[in-house]
Amino acid sequence: MNRLAGKTAIITGAGQGLGRAYALRFAQEGARVAVAEINNPNGEQVVKEIESAGGEAVFVHADVSDEQSTLDMAQLVADKWSRIDVLLNNAGIFFDLEQRNNSLDYLKRVLEVNMLGPWLCTRAVFPFMKAQGKGKIINQSSGAAWMYAMAGYAMRADATEVPSFHYSLSKAGVNAHTHYMAAALGQFGINVNAIAPGVTMTEATKKHVPDSMAGMIKMMSALRKTLEPDDITGTAVFLASDDSDPITGQVIAVDAGVTMLG
Ligand SMILES: NC(=O)c1ccc[n+]([C@@H]2O[C@H](COP(=O)([O-])OP(=O)(O)OC[C@H]3O[C@@H](n4cnc5c(N)ncnc54)[C@H](O)[C@@H]3O)[C@@H](O)[C@H]2O)c1
Repeated sequence: MNRLAGKTAIITGAGQGLGRAYALRFAQEGARVAVAEINNPNGEQVVKEIESAGGEAVFVHADVSDEQSTLDMAQLVADKWSRIDVLLNNAGIFFDLEQRNNSLDYLKRVLEVNMLGPWLCTRAVFPFMKAQGKGKIINQSSGAAWMYAMAGYAMRADATEVPSFHYSLSKAGVNAHTHYMAAALGQFGINVNAIAPGVTMTEATKKHVPDSMAGMIKMMSALRKTLEPDDITGTAVFLASDDSDPITGQVIAVDAGVTMLG
């Protein structure tokens, strides 16, 4: 299939996990892929994988929380391929997430990368997409944005501090950002949508989610399914393709039907 033939896509955090799966799939679908990563060896490795499969890719060292870095990333891709058709804001602090760190400094850091990173990257690609009169921005949210019911369980009876809910808050911010940016950028032909994956079996998930919990989540899903990275990539291909031209401002749960069951 060549559903993204001729398109140029920047995928942030594409050095491992879901980002890597998106990058490989986008290249298979004919896109030229900029693997934008803070981890150079991982990013370079993904570029090699794409090239050895016959695809076209470039590694871009990028820190999505650093404004200049995001501007340089967009400029480099535009200089190389003349256009930026798709921005997939996948990068996030997940593998390295300090789940129990409730400090203010750490909350700010998680928000800076997971929530403000997509905003900075959006600002960086905007002039190019505006000039083209078309562009697709896909934000990586998470089912964690909606897990209010879990919050009560996270607060233990003997707790002495209020949790920060850094990760969930950052993804709730991504959802809000998706709606605001869709409303603002639609007039320029720029679509902004988000994917909210359920628990997906990346290395990061295997580190944070015990097998017993993964089994429970599978049983809690309408489809009784464990999600692998390749289960998520097709939705991103759709949102990057012309087939999604009339769709904007949507946060699509790709979670085997966990969220809709409540
Ligand atoms: N795996 C899941 O179950 C799941 C579910 C829902 C949402 N997500 C989201 O999907 C994305 C990828 O998840 P994953 O499981 O592959 O996580 P991961 O932690 O393995 O991958 C994140 C990638 O982002 C990169 N990154 C981190 N900070 C960066 C920065 N400042 N600038 C550029 N790159 C940076 C990392 O180096 C890494 O390659 C994350 O945004 C995560 O929150 C994951």
